[in-house]
Amino acid sequence: MRERIVIGNWKMNPPTIADAVELARNVANRMPGGVSVGVAPAAIALPAVADALRDANVDVYAQDVHWEERGAFTGQISVSMLRGLAVGTIVGHSEVRRDLGDTDERVAKKLARAVTAGLRPVLCVGESAAEHAAGNASIVVARQIMAAVKEAPRRGLERLVVAYEPIWAIGTGNPATGIWATTLTRAIRAALKQSGLDPEATPVLYGGSVSARSVGEFASAEGIDGALVGGASLDTEEFAAVVRAFA
Ligand code: PGA
Repeated sequence: MRERIVIGNWKMNPPTIADAVELARNVANRMPGGVSVGVAPAAIALPAVADALRDANVDVYAQDVHWEERGAFTGQISVSMLRGLAVGTIVGHSEVRRDLGDTDERVAKKLARAVTAGLRPVLCVGESAAEHAAGNASIVVARQIMAAVKEAPRRGLERLVVAYEPIWAIGTGNPATGIWATTLTRAIRAALKQSGLDPEATPVLYGGSVSARSVGEFASAEGIDGALVGGASLDTEEFAAVVRAFA
C-alpha cells in the first residue's frame, strides 16, 4: 500500500512566528498514527517551527525554494538554507505560479534542485477554471507533470509526491468531487509513467478546499493517497479530522 500523507500548507499564515510555533505544537499533540503528517510554514517561521517539532512525528516542509544554489536572488531561499529545517518542499503551487511568475520551466529547475539536495518534492499541478470548462484538465495536468520532472535525477524522484490542486477549488470552499479527483489521478499517473517514473509508487494528494466536512469524499476516492490542506490546516481540530480520515 502507498504511503498516506497529509500536509498543511499554512501559506502566509498564521500572523506571527509565535502563533506558528503554537499551531505546530498543537498539531504535534493531536495527530493520530498511520499517516505521514507534515506542515509547511512560511519561510521565516521555519527555524522556530522545526525546533518546536524536533521530537514530534510531524514533518516540516518549505513552501517554495529557489532553483539556484546561491547568489543575487533577492527574497529567495536556497536548498542549503533549508538543511536541518525541512525534509522537503512544495514546488509549483498555483499561487507561486500566479504571484511570483513560476512557469513549467522554473518548476522543473526547482524540482531538480530540491531532489539533488535530498529534499522531498511535493509537486503541485492543476487546471484553471477556464481550462476546466474547456475540458482540458487532463491535458494541462499531464503537461505540467511531464515538464516538471524532465530535469530531475530519476533516483531522487523515487520519493516524489504529487498534489492535484484544481485552481478553481483552492480557497473557494468549493472542492472537486472524489470521482473527478480519481479521474485526474489517472491522467497524472499516466504522465508519470510516460516520464519513466513508477506511477504506482508515487503518492498523489488532493488539494483544494479540503475540510473536515469534505475530506471523506477524497479519503475514499481511488488513487488519492492524502491531502494538501490550506485554510483547514490553520485549525488544529479541523486538520486532525482531515488526517484521521486518511488514517
Ligand atoms: P485550500 O488550499 O485548502 O485553502 O483550498 C489548498 C492549497 O492551496 O494547497
